Order: sequence, then structure tokens, then C-alpha cells
Amino acid sequence: MTSFVAPPSAELHIHIEGTIEPEHIVAMAARNGVTLPTTNIADLKARYAFEDLQSFLDLHYSNLTVLKTEQDFFELATGYLDRAKVAHVRRAEIFFDPQTHIANGTPLEVVMAGFNAAFSESDRTHGISTDLIMCFLRDLGADAAGEMLTAIMPFRDAIIGVGLDSTEIGFPPELFVDVYARAAAEGLHLVAHAGEEGGPETVATALDVLHIERVDHGIRAMEDPALVARLRDERIPLTVCPLSNVALRTVDTMADHPLPTMLAERIVATISSDDPPYFGGYVDANYEAIQRDLGLSDDQLKTLALNSFDAAFISPEQRAGWKAEVEAHFAG
Ligand code: ADE
Ligand code: ZN
Repeated sequence: MTSFVAPPSAELHIHIEGTIEPEHIVAMAARNGVTLPTTNIADLKARYAFEDLQSFLDLHYSNLTVLKTEQDFFELATGYLDRAKVAHVRRAEIFFDPQTHIANGTPLEVVMAGFNAAFSESDRTHGISTDLIMCFLRDLGADAAGEMLTAIMPFRDAIIGVGLDSTEIGFPPELFVDVYARAAAEGLHLVAHAGEEGGPETVATALDVLHIERVDHGIRAMEDPALVARLRDERIPLTVCPLSNVALRTVDTMADHPLPTMLAERIVATISSDDPPYFGGYVDANYEAIQRDLGLSDDQLKTLALNSFDAAFISPEQRAGWKAEVEAHFAG
């Protein structure tokens, strides 16, 4: 049996904070004097079993209290790059949640300096092109999102877009119309989590009122045939995270995942890992799982990898170069 080799891809749905490994959490807690419910790695890992999105978010935010210094943010970012390189990621459009760190007492300058030290050199150090997308935490509300957009303006050139994450139910897209309009006026790209736990109407609303260019997750869009047709016809990409969807129980098992239907409907579906240590693996593990558990063919995996570059915020030259690498991977 030959071992699986993941194709070159763009990872478009990755929360940098969600890449923190249990070993980082324990080491940073010790060096920063942060008290956690447990600092035993086995005990910590035993908690990585979730009922739903909120049960994950509660643990995720608790673990993030260990991040304090520029070095912590640099190590977090470098840890992701090291692993993404192994997973054959060529391009990463990386979410970060500055409101979390500011609430934990870390100045935005410290966060941005740590990320900048890792990501501004990522082409050279890891062969991975990177950009940052700043997410608003939807459960902190619209006013806080507006203040965050104002606060990031001194670092405007360090981000390419804005996103919307955290608790979906109860915090619909309509709340964020004004801040998204301001971000659009700044020339920022617009994406948002929608249709992860929320119904298809949240996806349609995010498209209609936030004018997003990509939908993060979007799997519940498949429940509405008119919306499926719209996503296909307007070529609006979905950043699908299969292992995340199983771990957070938005699908019962991988075999129930709507990805094959998305492909049959010719939706621009892409594959990403979301928060990989929590959900069972990085983007290579996601490709392997969908091949194994959904029986996807090489042609379908190739389509997903090609889609990832079509959906990325990159130049036509970059797109052509990386898509040629995908073709070569599957030809070889
Ligand atoms: N923050 C980190 N991962 C998330 C997810 N899957 N959905 C919403 N917010 C998140
Ligand atoms: Zn996500």
C-alpha cells in the first residue's frame, strides 16, 4: 500500500490561534506564569472531545490565555508554517482574532510584531506565501467589531481582509453590515463564517448584506437548492473543513459529509483544516480523510486543490504557477 501524498494547495480557512499544539500550551503557560485547569498534556488532550462549536470555543479561548509575548506569537505562527510545509501548502490566508489577545491583556502591537516576524519571511523560510485576515468575534457584537477595525488601521497593510468567526447562533450577519461596509471602503477582502451551525439563510444573508467573496464552512447551504445554484452560478467559493465538521458534530460521520454533493453540483469547494490539533489533523490529513472515507477519486481531489487556488486572493501569475503544480502532482 502506498502512503497518501497531499496535493499542493492553498489553505484558506485556518485560525492561527487554533493551531496551538498542546505542547505549546503547556510550555507557554509555564514560562508566562499562567494557571490552566490542567498542565498535563494527556489530560489536556483528553478534553479535545466536543459536543458542538461552543464546547470547542470554550476550551479554545481558555487555552489562548497562555499567549502573552511577541515570542509566543512568533512561535505560534512558525509552528503552523513548519507543519503546513509538510502538508504541501503553498499559499495560506490566515485568520487571527486580535480581540481575544487584547481582552487577555496583550497589546495589538505585540501580536502584530510576532506575526510579522514569522509571516513576512514565510516565502523564503518555508516556501509558503502568506497573508492575514483579521476576524471579528461575532459574540462580542457590532460595536466591538467597529472598534477593532479602527484599532487595526495603523496595521492596515499587514492584513488583506476581514472575517467573522466565533459563536454563530444568535449573532447573524445583519449585525455586522456597517463594519463590513467600512472594511470594503478600505479595499479589504471580505469573508465570513456562515452555515457552519446556522442554517442556509445565514449564508444567503452574509452574501446579500455583507457582500462576502467566500463563505467559510457554508456546509448547511446544501440544504437550499436555490442557494446551491447561486453558489455554483456566481462561483462563490466555500472553505470546507471536513475533520472540523465531524469533530464539532455538524455532520454525524465523515461518510455523511456533503462534499461529494458539492462537487457534483460544481460548487467551488476548497479544503482547509480550521483548528487542526483540536480536530485531528492539518490539511494533508483532511485530504487523506476525504479520500479514504468519502472515496473521492484523484480527479475530485485535483478539482479541490485547483479550486483552492481559484478561490485564493492571489495574482493570475501565482494562480497559474500553483495550478500547474497541482496538474503535475496528479500527472506524476
Ligand atoms: N474560531 C475558531 N474556529 C472556529 C470555527 N470553526 N467556527 C467559528 N469560529 C471559530
Ligand atoms: Zn473556522
